[in-house]
Amino acid sequence: MTSLAESWGTLDQVRVRVPAKINLALCVGGRRPDGYHELATIFHAVSIYDEVTAISAPTGISCEVNGPLADRIGSMEDNLAYRAACLLRDEYGVSQGVHLTIDKRIPVAGGMAGGSADAAGALLACAHLWQVGANQQDLLALAARLGADVPFPLMGGCAVGLGRGETLTPALSRGVFHWVLAFAATGLATPDVFARFDQLAGTAKSRPARPEVPRALMMALVAGQTDRVGGLLVNDLQAAACSLNPALRATLAAGREAGALGAIVSGSGPTIAFLAADEPAATDLAVDLSSRGVAHEVRLATGPVPGATIMG
Ligand code: C5P
Repeated sequence: MTSLAESWGTLDQVRVRVPAKINLALCVGGRRPDGYHELATIFHAVSIYDEVTAISAPTGISCEVNGPLADRIGSMEDNLAYRAACLLRDEYGVSQGVHLTIDKRIPVAGGMAGGSADAAGALLACAHLWQVGANQQDLLALAARLGADVPFPLMGGCAVGLGRGETLTPALSRGVFHWVLAFAATGLATPDVFARFDQLAGTAKSRPARPEVPRALMMALVAGQTDRVGGLLVNDLQAAACSLNPALRATLAAGREAGALGAIVSGSGPTIAFLAADEPAATDLAVDLSSRGVAHEVRLATGPVPGATIMG
């Protein structure tokens, strides 16, 4: 495999665009000794992007978040993108510094892996800026150490995730899927949703040790059968997310009434993804949902889209 840094001259800055994800299936098994849950999930990258720019600095690592969502981000040291840059620097013994700027568009704590996308973008941008000679496999391994959802935004497209969700295998999918995304006004913390899932699900014995993604859904994706995909979307965390934010039930119902082929909470929520037959149907659905006032913000997106990409 070729090195990412090959043939680059000295760089002043590297800008990376990185997509959000939704989970077309999220099947949750028992809680493991390390506190994580065994998962089988189908990740699907969608056309909502953050941009991470790594700007050369003589020394030290710093990080700033811009855009309308910036005030919902915690301290710099807690930012997963900052931690990603620190991890890469330590692993490769880099002495140079970096200033990261993040242009934030993916909802914060929205179940779309926005923080993980920023970390993935920071890994790719810094690997190029510092010319560390890391290939895609190296970055995927570092990404998995940062969080279960960090490897997928590097890969993009459509992929099955096993283990904590970080063990990825690309999945086949035909055609373009048109989504309407309903963002909520406030986020949900992933650990809270898993904890509520444990409460609702009862003992670990009733859950599979090794959950599997639904075969019928994989086949519908390969065949590009949008209506079948819509009917087969599944999320074991949905009841837990709805129990923490009961308004989500009305949003899900409104989308179904308005003709969505499928309606699902994305990941640990609270973002809801509605599948439409095509672009005009998605636009109609978005207009309908906006007029019903059941979501804080409604956005159109398509998937699958490529993973983290260098823009300049
Ligand atoms: O890996 P990440 O830091 O994104 O996970 C956040 C939290 O979500 C974990 O601390 C854990 O509470 C929960 N989680 C889980 N099982 C997974 C993934 C996440 O319980 N497979």
